Amino acid sequence: MKQPYWIAPSILSADFFRLGEEIESVMSSGADIIHFDVMDNHYVPNLTIGPLVCRSITSRVSYPVDVHLMTEPVDPLVPMFAEAGASFITFHPEATRHVDRTLQLIRSLGVRAGLVLNPATPLNCLDYVLDKLDVIMLMSVNPGFGGQSFIPSTLDKLKQVRRIIDASGLQIRLEVDGGVKAGNIAEIAAAGADTFVAGSAIFGQKDYGEVIATMRSRLEGV
Ligand code: DX5
Ligand code: ZN
Repeated sequence: MKQPYWIAPSILSADFFRLGEEIESVMSSGADIIHFDVMDNHYVPNLTIGPLVCRSITSRVSYPVDVHLMTEPVDPLVPMFAEAGASFITFHPEATRHVDRTLQLIRSLGVRAGLVLNPATPLNCLDYVLDKLDVIMLMSVNPGFGGQSFIPSTLDKLKQVRRIIDASGLQIRLEVDGGVKAGNIAEIAAAGADTFVAGSAIFGQKDYGEVIATMRSRLEGV
């Protein structure tokens, strides 16, 4: 069953000089969770932020933080982000040697766990681990950078994952990351997603409240 819709602004596109203000601003504009992109210049070409920055957010505000690890390996960072107050930790299955073990590690630290599938990653990596997932995230761009265009084949993939989740009877969120905007959020929701990461579509705009309100009104029609 679909969970309530969540809008997750990705701070990758925020003004890092004013990060605290940016976070307060999107959350008071109606966002549900902060999406936190961790890139290591190894699994992906870009290099971003780590547990220190996560802690600096969670120590000052109680908003949930959705940590998306684009790192290889994964396991050494999991306790660091659990300690830094992450609510969710998601990772890419090909970036860890033992997927089941990494999922167990995340949950053992009291954090919700998820797998992230790149555009070309097949769905069979979900087999055998569904009961250890709190979220499945489909990348609708190749990971590494904000501001890319949504890859349309993600819509079919979302429909397939929605069927898998519903057939399992488990409460697993279905998140989508990359190129999500007010203009395509309704068809993405109609394909089965309930959690929407948006970086440049929110932080790139003048009025965050207006963008988030427009996204919510488009979701109402789904
Ligand atoms: C890409 C990141 C995304 C990115 C989304 O590797 O995982 O979270 O920030 O940015 P937009 O919404 O601009 O595509
Ligand atoms: Zn992300």
